[in-house]
Amino acid sequence: MRRHLISAADLSRADALLILDTAEELADLTDRPIKKLPTLRGRTVVNLFFEDSTRTRISFEAAAKRLSADVINFSAKGSSVAKGESLKDTALTLEAMGADAVVIRHGASGAAHRLAGWVRGSVVNAGDGTHEHPTQALLDAFTMRRRLQGAGAARGKGLDGIRVTIVGDVLHSRVARSNVLLLSALGAQVTLAAPPTLLPLAVDSWPCAVSYELDSELPKSDAVMMLRVQTERMTAAYFPSVREYSRRYGLDAARMARLPEHAIVMHPGPMNRGVEIAAEVADSARSTVVEQVANGVTIRMAVLYLLLGGTEFPEAAAEVSR
Ligand code: CP
Repeated sequence: MRRHLISAADLSRADALLILDTAEELADLTDRPIKKLPTLRGRTVVNLFFEDSTRTRISFEAAAKRLSADVINFSAKGSSVAKGESLKDTALTLEAMGADAVVIRHGASGAAHRLAGWVRGSVVNAGDGTHEHPTQALLDAFTMRRRLQGAGAARGKGLDGIRVTIVGDVLHSRVARSNVLLLSALGAQVTLAAPPTLLPLAVDSWPCAVSYELDSELPKSDAVMMLRVQTERMTAAYFPSVREYSRRYGLDAARMARLPEHAIVMHPGPMNRGVEIAAEVADSARSTVVEQVANGVTIRMAVLYLLLGGTEFPEAAAEVSR
């Protein structure tokens, strides 16, 4: 493993499998009545969030605490960022407080990369603009592997031959880019299904197929990942109306019925119910939305553990039980 996790492209297949398998080990340990492990005792993790978040911020905090790290939560709202303090000065201030790892979410693509050049500790990208969100891709891969290949049984295996369709607002999605990179490294066959206006110009260079049709892709999919329509990042009209978008690219019960029986429905959250995903689909037995959130804690524990070099699990487990 490298010192930082900025992009899913930083991960070789072996690195990604190490994280997924470590998460499986941690999932076993955290199923026990005492969830806390002493592996990162004495280490400090700073959560540096310049953009809103529910799942990622809380799960990084829960992950660090379950590994017994000290956690400092920083939110740009109410901080000296409001007085004009720069990202560099904010980061150096937090580092002076002894951060071993900085988890950053920022509205600017490339912010995590810049930060990695300024601090001595590890940097984890928790979402930078429309660029990447590598731990979301890891938790999505972990969820697919568990649901499609069986929890535990899939250890050491990738996602070879698994067909994943990622649907909707790819243009504004850091989740889509990280997933395409990671899933292809793990051997999955990825197709993006989106209107042409919501695909990036350079999509031809991505390791995936592209389709403008959703209906024809569904029967061929083992997993379908619905993306949030990110209206807050839109500066133009990318489709005629929300109703028209839902009609062509939204997943409702009738469309879900086109999926093979074993296929799962994913969404990174937060969801726009009634836009990209109907409520009946989001709440159905095929939906892994809640499971993805739970797996997010386990994956982020694995990432922090591997980046910060915690003690071995068996030793840690013994220490907890004493
Ligand atoms: N999936 C995701 O990143 O959710 P949050 O914005 O709530 O962290």
